[in-house]
Amino acid sequence: MKTSKKLLRCTLVTIASLTLLSSPIHAGAADQKGDIKNPVVKEKGVEAKNEEWAKHYPRQYNSWKETSKSESLDDMLKKKPQLPVLWAGYGFAKDYNAPRGHFYAIQDNVNTLRTGAPVSPITGPMPTACWTCKSPDVPRLMQEVGEKEYFTGKWAKYGSEVVNPIGCGDCHDSKTGELTLTRDYLKRGLEASGVDVAKLNKDDMRSLVCAQCHSEYYFKKSEETDSKGEKKVAMTVIFPWDNGFKGEDVEAYYDALNFSDWTHAISKAPMLKAQHPDYEVFVGGVHGRRGLSCADCHMPTKKDGDAVFTEHKVGSPLDNIENTCLTCHSESEKEFKDHLAIKLQRKEELMDLAMNGLARAHLEAGKAWEVGATAEEMKDILQDIRHGQWRWDYSIAGHGAFFHNPEEVLRLLAQAGDKAQQARVKLAAVLAKHGVIGYQVPDFSTKEKAQALAGINMEKEVAEKLAFKAALVQEWNKEAVAKGRLNMDSRKGMSDRSSYSK
Ligand code: HEC
Ligand code: HEC
Ligand code: HEC
Ligand code: HEC
Repeated sequence: MKTSKKLLRCTLVTIASLTLLSSPIHAGAADQKGDIKNPVVKEKGVEAKNEEWAKHYPRQYNSWKETSKSESLDDMLKKKPQLPVLWAGYGFAKDYNAPRGHFYAIQDNVNTLRTGAPVSPITGPMPTACWTCKSPDVPRLMQEVGEKEYFTGKWAKYGSEVVNPIGCGDCHDSKTGELTLTRDYLKRGLEASGVDVAKLNKDDMRSLVCAQCHSEYYFKKSEETDSKGEKKVAMTVIFPWDNGFKGEDVEAYYDALNFSDWTHAISKAPMLKAQHPDYEVFVGGVHGRRGLSCADCHMPTKKDGDAVFTEHKVGSPLDNIENTCLTCHSESEKEFKDHLAIKLQRKEELMDLAMNGLARAHLEAGKAWEVGATAEEMKDILQDIRHGQWRWDYSIAGHGAFFHNPEEVLRLLAQAGDKAQQARVKLAAVLAKHGVIGYQVPDFSTKEKAQALAGINMEKEVAEKLAFKAALVQEWNKEAVAKGRLNMDSRKGMSDRSSYSK
């Protein structure tokens, strides 16, 4: 009784505030924009340097710059040593950190061991597509060279081009200042999912600007011929949204294409890697269904004297609960924090069960191959592992999903755990058939032990990375400055954190 009364009150407050939100507060923000009389930051193309925008929009710029305060680095492989086993044979097993402020997007992309240590513009391992959600230099380049050309070649091709972190030019039109979609692959993904892109309105943009990057995608390989008749391999970002947004919908899309991101180094399973389906999982949750947008919680309206503007310090809404949750709800800050802690704890419990089950399944499959299991015996088992790991990854790879859509996350995690156990039951039978009974998997209780099982030579990886940073990265920065693409002052005071530097 007490709870339902409280919920009702909460809903009423919510409805009142939602109405408020769609009129006076936003009108305030719009007035503010009106004050500035829509200055043209750049007549043609994309202005990628955030400092240039600061000249017109100091409040938004200053609050954007505060994303630099979220600089602590959380080494997820240390925290969850199952991960290097789950990702054996794939770059993520080398280095994977929790996300930090938008300000660090370029630095983290250069520093991660996943992008390797190229020595020239044509050396690997990664394609140009790995820059795609890191910088407004990406839409700038896409306009300058064309989207097709942008997606060809190796990551190192654009080291001196993609130099400014996620900023104004990613979400705003440089000429009109309006929110805009700077990535055509999102428009194509929306169309594939049945959305009429021509009918999108301003409110939709308050989530879709985020969906340009906070979504699931894969790289589609194709051969292209450029304007000079030269043949090139393109790796194009595609959103797999044709069947819908649920984990199983996207899984069916990939299965139908027989697509896999990599072959697992231990189990030989054809694996999928989920990216960060924040948008897809969010829209199915209670706030998504009630029509909230990402900006409602992550970019609240803020006052500065008489002026009202949009807070651009995109981070945890809990750091600013008064302007986020409490604009609609009436619980206390403590109640909300406790509530979230419970949701997080529930996710952690099911997630650990699923990860332990999946890691053991990989290792037991590795043992089965070793003692002579056949491809026919392993086929079903590998499919269980592929699907189990996909559902685990899809549910948690968006770090806010435990709050955005807790029921869906727990549903997928339960399925992931079940698929892992189904694989293990079948594996016990295959192992027994080949004379192995009671097999105990090796210890993967620390990052180091798990990486050794995954066959990673961290010393070599780190040494090569440091050499790359001392040589090629310095050349990139020099060239970017000389060509007027980078202002070194914009990186002033920035620490150089990584999982391997102390
Ligand atoms: C991740 C996307 C994103 C980035 C990056 C971004 N903005 Fe915004 N911006 C928004 C959203 C969302 C709004 C709210 C628009 C609305 O509700 O109509 C907004 C609103 C604005 C407005 C309108 C006035 C106001 O405060 O509501 C201005 C001006 C603005 N941003 C400037 C900037 C500048 C300058 C930068 C770079 C320093 C920047 N933005 C970076 C998404 C972004
Ligand atoms: C151009 C791509 C891009 C856009 C647009 C974008 N993000 Fe991000 N976002 C990222 C990347 C990449 C990171 C991780 C950066 C890192 O760890 O270096 C990130 C990190 C975050 C974080 C973690 C911040 C922290 O301090 O821990 C949040 C929250 C977030 N984004 C929300 C949003 C929301 C909400 C929007 C839309 C208003 C948005 N992002 C738009 C790419 C983007
Ligand atoms: C713009 C309004 C708005 C904002 C901002 C908002 N909510 Fe909500 N919230 C709602 C609505 C609407 C519902 C659905 C109520 C219902 O259906 O009964 C809801 C439901 C909830 C619920 C109950 C459902 C569940 O998932 O357990 C919780 C808890 C909640 N919100 C927490 C938060 C927190 C924490 C924040 C800040 C990070 C927040 N809300 C921000 C409008 C809002
Ligand atoms: C109702 C409020 C609300 C809405 C709307 C919302 N989020 Fe969140 N988001 C949260 C909360 C609360 C967290 C957890 C913050 C924490 O753990 O400190 C979170 C966490 C995140 C994180 C993880 C941040 C990190 O550092 O781990 C990302 C990324 C994110 N949200 C992106 C989005 C995107 C993209 C959208 C829109 C598709 C969105 N959010 C819509 C409330 C919201």
